[in-house]
Amino acid sequence: MFREAVARGGLAVVTGAASGLGRVSALRFAEAGLGVVLADLPGDALNTVEQEVRSAANEGATVLAVPTDVTDAQAVAELADRAFAAGEVAVLMNNAGIGLPTGSWEQAENWRRVIEVNLFGVMNGVHAFMPRMVAADRPAVVVNTGSKQGITTPPGNPGYNVSKAGVKVLTEALAHDLREAGAPISVHLFVPGFAYTGMIAAFIPEKPPSAWTSEQTVDHFIGRMSEGDFYILCPDNDVTPERDRRRVEWALGDIIENRPALSRWHPDYADAFARHEKMR
Ligand SMILES: NC(=O)c1ccc[n+]([C@@H]2O[C@H](COP(=O)([O-])OP(=O)(O)OC[C@H]3O[C@@H](n4cnc5c(N)ncnc54)[C@H](O)[C@@H]3O)[C@@H](O)[C@H]2O)c1
Repeated sequence: MFREAVARGGLAVVTGAASGLGRVSALRFAEAGLGVVLADLPGDALNTVEQEVRSAANEGATVLAVPTDVTDAQAVAELADRAFAAGEVAVLMNNAGIGLPTGSWEQAENWRRVIEVNLFGVMNGVHAFMPRMVAADRPAVVVNTGSKQGITTPPGNPGYNVSKAGVKVLTEALAHDLREAGAPISVHLFVPGFAYTGMIAAFIPEKPPSAWTSEQTVDHFIGRMSEGDFYILCPDNDVTPERDRRRVEWALGDIIENRPALSRWHPDYADAFARHEKMR
């Protein structure tokens, strides 16, 4: 549906647009000929990206920066009002996200904050935009940014994993419900690999060889979205698509084979997992 949505024209609304994957996505949507509504926390970064996107956009195209905290449902409803007042919505990309450390029995405040931004931020976007996008009855796409950590749920940051597992489930339900409703809107779960963005640069000053750039990641995602994929797992310089498939298979296998939770990281299963990952 992405090609049809672009052909019809209109706006791309991107949250978390002031940095990283959101910024590059906004630039790509502008280059494709769409108007762009950029939503992020207020600040210089958002203003700078507004200028960049304006330079990339067609002459006369709408480019709006709307300072928005995605955890504030009222602010997201106002973002939707601004967008629909400016034009038809062709793309809604709920992408804003944060990473904060969490432990299984620690850092409750970080748990709440991460889930507020990463999960309820996406829900706020869906709730604010869907009724009018469905009523518009025009080709459109919704993209929610998840994470491999919401699919294979590795140890280390359970709060972040929960938030992204929630995004996966919400996005699957949305795709089903729009299909049932007969709406001409396709839904896509964007699952970046390791991408060197603002979130990562805060901890690692230089791009590690294993990471992809934001540009590589977004170009892969838009390519797969153009082909209609729902699950868009992006590779990076360490993890190939085949490796991702093996890891997802193993994670589901924990349930099917009645193995212990997160057996991929259980010493008794280390050899079996290593064999599984290398199979084929
Ligand atoms: N970089 C990676 O390797 C990676 C991997 C998997 C998933 N992701 C996901 O990709 C998405 C984009 O992240 P990124 O890597 O480009 O990081 P980034 O930090 O460069 O960009 C995230 C943007 O979201 C904004 N944001 C944070 N809280 C917000 C709020 N409450 N309201 C509005 N905007 C808010 C930030 O200001 C920032 O501009 C996130 O959802 C992240 O979880 C990233």
